[in-house]
Amino acid sequence: MKTKLLTIALLSATMNSNVFANEAISANVEEARNLVKMFGGQLKPELQKAMKSGGPVSAVEFCHARAPEIAQTVAEKSGWKVNRVSLKPRGATASPDAWETEVLKRFDAEKTAGVEVKTMEFSEVVHDGAKTTFRYMKPLGTAEVCLVCHGTNLTEPVRQAIAKYYPQDQAMGFNKGDIRGAFSFSKAVN
Ligand code: HEC
Repeated sequence: MKTKLLTIALLSATMNSNVFANEAISANVEEARNLVKMFGGQLKPELQKAMKSGGPVSAVEFCHARAPEIAQTVAEKSGWKVNRVSLKPRGATASPDAWETEVLKRFDAEKTAGVEVKTMEFSEVVHDGAKTTFRYMKPLGTAEVCLVCHGTNLTEPVRQAIAKYYPQDQAMGFNKGDIRGAFSFSKAVN
């Protein structure tokens, strides 16, 4: 009888800690989704405005200056590590690490399997030695407006503006609907 009770007690203790762990994870997912809104919600309208007012060449300058600034502000406000990455990177910090590479490949595979890009996201608690990190990624689809700077047919002035800042650029040749890259956010957890 005693043993049985003990088993039940242990079982429910494990279940409780799982419940807490799951709650912690979903709270982190919620926070990460808000960061997507903060980052994307600021960058995209500003980019569209820059395109309209100054044209694509000045919008390249805009992206070069503003995208890292917005990322930094979001990081400072939230305490998360904030980045955008791609399998074909442009920005100085856009090269994915091993974990990000796997997730980006997974997103591409899901897209090939017919999953809608805007419904995709991926999160995981990653253990690395004594360090535990909550990591989250959300892919960015390529819209019509993105093709001006990421498509297959860039105008010469846009190509030159990009080459000036990004001599190693790989972020061209995308088609509408392709996954251009992803937001990648992480936070240390205990
Ligand atoms: C006016 C040119 C321009 C347009 C239009 C544009 N981008 Fe970019 N994009 C850039 C530049 C420049 C960078 C590098 C920014 C930096 O230095 O961090 C960049 C970087 C990125 C990155 C980060 C990963 C990487 O490769 O550096 C993603 C993701 C991205 N763009 C997605 C998009 C999407 C999605 C759209 C359409 C909604 C879009 N871009 C439209 C110029 C543009």
